[in-house]
Amino acid sequence: MYLKDEGRIWLATGDERVYIEPAMANRHGLIAGATGTGKTVTLKVLAESFSDLGVPTFIADVKGDLTGMCVPGEETKHIRRSIDNMGIDNFDYSSYPVRFFDVYARRGHPVRTTISEMGPELLSRLLGLTEVQSGVLRIVFRIADERGLLLLDLKDLRSMVQFVGDNAAEYKLTYGNITSQSIGAIQRALLTLEDEGGDVFFGEPALDLADWFDWDEDGRGVMNILECEELFLHPLLYSTFLLWMLSELYELLPEAGDLERPKIAFFFDEAHLLFNDAPKALIEKVEQVVRLIRSKGVSVWFITQNPADVPESVLGQLGSRVQHALRAYTPNEQKAMRYAARSFRANPAFDTERVLQELAVGEALVSVLDADGIPTVVERAGILPPRSSMNVADDETVNRVISSSPLYEKYTQIVDRESAYEIISAEREQEAEEAAKAAEEAAKAKEEVERKKAEEKAAREKEKEEKKKASQRKNSAVGKAASSAASSFGRELGRQIFRGIFGTFKK
Ligand SMILES: Nc1ncnc2c1ncn2[C@@H]1O[C@H](COP(=O)(O)OP(=O)(O)OP(=O)(O)O)[C@@H](O)[C@H]1O
Ligand SMILES: [Mg+2]
Repeated sequence: MYLKDEGRIWLATGDERVYIEPAMANRHGLIAGATGTGKTVTLKVLAESFSDLGVPTFIADVKGDLTGMCVPGEETKHIRRSIDNMGIDNFDYSSYPVRFFDVYARRGHPVRTTISEMGPELLSRLLGLTEVQSGVLRIVFRIADERGLLLLDLKDLRSMVQFVGDNAAEYKLTYGNITSQSIGAIQRALLTLEDEGGDVFFGEPALDLADWFDWDEDGRGVMNILECEELFLHPLLYSTFLLWMLSELYELLPEAGDLERPKIAFFFDEAHLLFNDAPKALIEKVEQVVRLIRSKGVSVWFITQNPADVPESVLGQLGSRVQHALRAYTPNEQKAMRYAARSFRANPAFDTERVLQELAVGEALVSVLDADGIPTVVERAGILPPRSSMNVADDETVNRVISSSPLYEKYTQIVDRESAYEIISAEREQEAEEAAKAAEEAAKAKEEVERKKAEEKAAREKEKEEKKKASQRKNSAVGKAASSAASSFGRELGRQIFRGIFGTFKK
């Protein structure tokens, strides 16, 4: 296989061949360029090379144009020309080992995540909560944890929020104020999320990221493709889900230090969505995850139209840059173009800014890290053609891949385990029953005690009365009235009456 010839990833050819050192791949990368300039094809070529090297990949497929990776490519004039021009001797078309996932279960194994796994930080972002409200959400999570309640889906979270709201006074001492305004705001945000279809996204089977690490019989890494066409209609849901997966990967993998090649490559398409209106805290979190995940052997690739969409703190950590053509008509676009050009180590042979606008489809300005981790001077180069098909695979082929996948059984059954919603509902019912019973018993006991007291008092009064009979005959009627009241009045009324009567007696 030509890509493995030098143990490196041959990505593009300009005056010279451009290779990505697998040992440097954990320094991440950026694929940028205007629409239709070749970003997805670049992603395909990279993912194929990783697979050939035995590195599994995760790829978000936003446009549904990656399904063709399970089908060998077909020769076109353009591809033939590239093969000849780039001097690729042993080019062969090939399909790749692909697994399809789809939150909506239409074109892939259904995958979800649970509320518990997503955690309060990402959920706050998804729900658009304020600082104070997300503080309350964190408390809700802690209480669920402490009580051992599983938060799987949205109805679990709703009943948990309700529960905490109902018991706010009790939790105040430990956790501080939980206002009904915050509880109300969270409930409303949850309803909105549900209306937007967020409920399909939470639940089980939850995606087990360990399943991504698999190889075919030739040792090629599996490509885990998440069909995102529909998910992408909810950009915040999409970007939060992907960010969650990145942080899960971080949690899952042990510290690995410098490896010969990454353990997995993660392709994040339409990455600008992650940063659109993102609060500073979230950007810091992304920046942190990207920085730390390096030593776990994960190679992260952001794909976006414009590098200016990615915050500088994140951009600064992306070692390899593949910049396809940029349009620069408006002042904003011109500014973004200058920014993109400046991010490269200039090549004295050409003017970066000018070339950026001239690049043909499938051509790019490329800079990678050399074996010492230093960014190479920018090269103008043509990206290699992919070996798998650039077309969309037909439904039959996709369905065959899905049903023959070893993960088919595991992810097909949608389950609804006993979790917070069921437990809290059951508890509520039981509590209500018990409370009613207890109230009844308490009332009975009290009635009994008070009846006895009344009888005793009445008896004492009677005694007194009898003693005083001779001198105070008129008072004896009161005690009799009290004792008859005790037997004939209802609980509450009776109690008040006793209080009143005895109160007056005490005086
Ligand atoms: N390296 C390449 N070799 C051969 N053909 C290519 C190459 N790159 C791009 N093309 C051709 O250009 C078309 C558009 O490329 P691609 O889909 O990668 O663009 P894109 O930047 O991902 O666009 P969008 O922003 O719309 O997703 C491809 O369908 C293919 O025909
Ligand atoms: Mg694309």
